[in-house]
Amino acid sequence: MPLVTSKEMFEKAYAGGYAIGAFNVNNMEIIQGITEAAKEVNAPLILQVSSGARKYANHTYLMKLVEAALIETDLPICVHLDHGDTFELCKSCIDGGFTSVMIDGSHHSYEDNVKLTKQVVEYAHAHGVTVEGELGRLAGIEDDVNVSSEDASYTNPDQVYDFVTRTGVDSLAIAIGTSHGAYKFKPGQKPQLRFDILEEVQKKLPGFPIVLHGASSVIPELVEIINNNGGKMPDAIGIPEEMLREAAKMAVCKINIDSDLRLAMTASIRKYMSEHPDHFDPRQYLKPARDSIKELVKNKLVNVLGCDGKA
Ligand code: G3H
Ligand code: 13P
Ligand code: ZN
Repeated sequence: MPLVTSKEMFEKAYAGGYAIGAFNVNNMEIIQGITEAAKEVNAPLILQVSSGARKYANHTYLMKLVEAALIETDLPICVHLDHGDTFELCKSCIDGGFTSVMIDGSHHSYEDNVKLTKQVVEYAHAHGVTVEGELGRLAGIEDDVNVSSEDASYTNPDQVYDFVTRTGVDSLAIAIGTSHGAYKFKPGQKPQLRFDILEEVQKKLPGFPIVLHGASSVIPELVEIINNNGGKMPDAIGIPEEMLREAAKMAVCKINIDSDLRLAMTASIRKYMSEHPDHFDPRQYLKPARDSIKELVKNKLVNVLGCDGKA
């Protein structure tokens, strides 16, 4: 099966009350772990690449790894640019075979966000590629940009219709209290999402796919393994999985997960190295790391996103 855009995936997800998992990929083991999990439960997938991942692994290497996953799994897979910040970056990914891009103009003024997003949509649509825009600003770290919680802002539901119709985007990322990274809430703070904003957005844009970034749950068991094996991640707190399940039943059709993959891989490698201090063949510790990504992703697909059996 060739690579697909997000269009049909989102239509089915909206109608079926589930969400597609959008997992960040940086190397072969991560791609294998994610796609092997999806194959086992027959789930469609979005594999997303940040500009940092592209710098780390190189565009061509990542595309060829994704192509290998397509051959091995025969699943509907969409390759998506995560947090594109310029027209040039989006164009380069579109020209290089991505089937979907995000243009994240959320750091600009509203009018500049509209202008930049519209420019990307025009180029992308002319090349059969879907586009995700963003309104509202999440806290946390994306590439080198660190947005403090004071500078973060919820999406204003009164702007979404205007933004979507003027730009022509195919999906919209909104800010309802999720954030990037492993430290989403302060110690003692109760994790909360603004479902009222999501409901308002849904009313303003009936049938339109919404995206949640910063949706890792920061699995406590993984944090514990890291901390018990020489790591130091006190007070790492994420989004409870029940909340994501709720959002997936609503207009949220794409849920972004990166930090949980990082934790799964790091926990596995730390544990392995503590237990086998004399081992030095990377295959020995990367194999369990890949397996632990697979296990984590399978749980997300079945128990959180509800997209198993939907490929
Ligand atoms: O939203 C950011 C993603 O977790 C990607 O992170 O830019 O460090 O690759 P990265
Ligand atoms: P997490 O840091 O919560 O995994 O979010 C990832 C993300 O939103 C990628 O765009
Ligand atoms: Zn993000």
